[in-house]
Amino acid sequence: MKFFLDTANLGEIREAAKLGLIDGVTTNPSLVAKETNIIWQEHVAAICDAVRGPVSVEVTSLDTEGMLREARESVKISPYVVVKCPLTMDGLRATRTLADEGTKVNVTLCFSAAQAILAAKAGAAYISPFVGRLDDVGQDGMQLISEIVEIYRNYEWKTEVLVASVRHTMHVIEAARLGADVATMPSKVLMQLVQHPLTDRGLEQFLADWRKRENQK
Ligand code: E4P
Repeated sequence: MKFFLDTANLGEIREAAKLGLIDGVTTNPSLVAKETNIIWQEHVAAICDAVRGPVSVEVTSLDTEGMLREARESVKISPYVVVKCPLTMDGLRATRTLADEGTKVNVTLCFSAAQAILAAKAGAAYISPFVGRLDDVGQDGMQLISEIVEIYRNYEWKTEVLVASVRHTMHVIEAARLGADVATMPSKVLMQLVQHPLTDRGLEQFLADWRKRENQK
């Protein structure tokens, strides 16, 4: 399973890239809005340079023509740019055109298996089901991942299942168990994956015993 970092923060992306644990980045307009004093095109180029893997850049137009205009500008920034289009009829139309032009599209804001089927039919490179936001409204986000993975496998569709809106480590573990292709997560969740109290306690004990041995010399 690939790991993407869900942020537009260059510092976090550089840190995670240094760990050698991330394969790409996803951004969205809300994440970009948190970054102040940046020139977005230059910022995207710096993200692509840091991660050297797929970097999702979302369009903000609502109509197909506007989406295509934005997408064609974004892909000029770097070959790593993946265009993110919303799961609307206009977004699907834009996805089909961009896919036919050889541009990778991440179809975002997916909340049902029916929507995921349409994204695959439109030629999306990635589908982004938002598990955390479904959990927030009392639905089972991971159940949707299970359905999409099953459906895509039935037809060997090439669209990759990119688990989005990840809130905690269990989402990542479940996504891996279900065979999702990618999980995109905030830096906080990536860092939490390494933590286990028994690892800390075990390390403390090993070092204490080692010091005792040193003192016996
Ligand atoms: C995915 O690409 C989105 O950027 C993201 O995962 C949304 O997560 P949120 O529901 O925590 O905002």
